[in-house]
Amino acid sequence: MKWIAPESSQVFSENGKLLNANGRYQKHFRDLEGLYEDGESFSRMLPEWSEKVVYQVEDHRASEQPGDLIYGTTVMMPGKVGNEFFMTRGHQHQKAECAETYFGLSGEGILLLESPDGDVEVREIRAGIMVYVPPYWIHRSVNTGNTDLVFLFNYPSDAGQDYGIIERNRGMRKRVVTDGTNGWELKDNEDSVKFS
Ligand SMILES: [Fe+2]
Repeated sequence: MKWIAPESSQVFSENGKLLNANGRYQKHFRDLEGLYEDGESFSRMLPEWSEKVVYQVEDHRASEQPGDLIYGTTVMMPGKVGNEFFMTRGHQHQKAECAETYFGLSGEGILLLESPDGDVEVREIRAGIMVYVPPYWIHRSVNTGNTDLVFLFNYPSDAGQDYGIIERNRGMRKRVVTDGTNGWELKDNEDSVKFS
């Protein structure tokens, strides 16, 4: 048996840098077409924003063996499309029985969670807060602050991501919008299949 070597890595809270990352991906603004309610605002922003990286992930994958873990960081840019805060595409795990944890490093945001029955839960993510994503819950992170939102995640190596579930449901049941002051509030997504 060839044992996987233990590792440690420094994680930088301000910019999410993970020194031993061996994987990374970036999402550009243009990749998120159709995600936001206000398509007109999206189109208006597109010329200026198209190529900007709105979130990026760095992760460490030792192996894809069941029982192993993937850990990494996400950095999300602040901003809004119309009234709606910048968010990740969101997903359920392909092996939906797999859970995940998020640990806030800097910035302010929330994790929007939806159960297969359509229950909606929200948990804050900020420095020092651990959020547990139970098995089966669809999850999406949202930057509700004015600075980058940076957090650490851990999930099973064989969990995978089903990004299509949100598309098939025509979005998550709730949208995260500005409350008109400095905060956020939830708003029904009328397009969601959960309402039809
Ligand atoms: Fe996940």
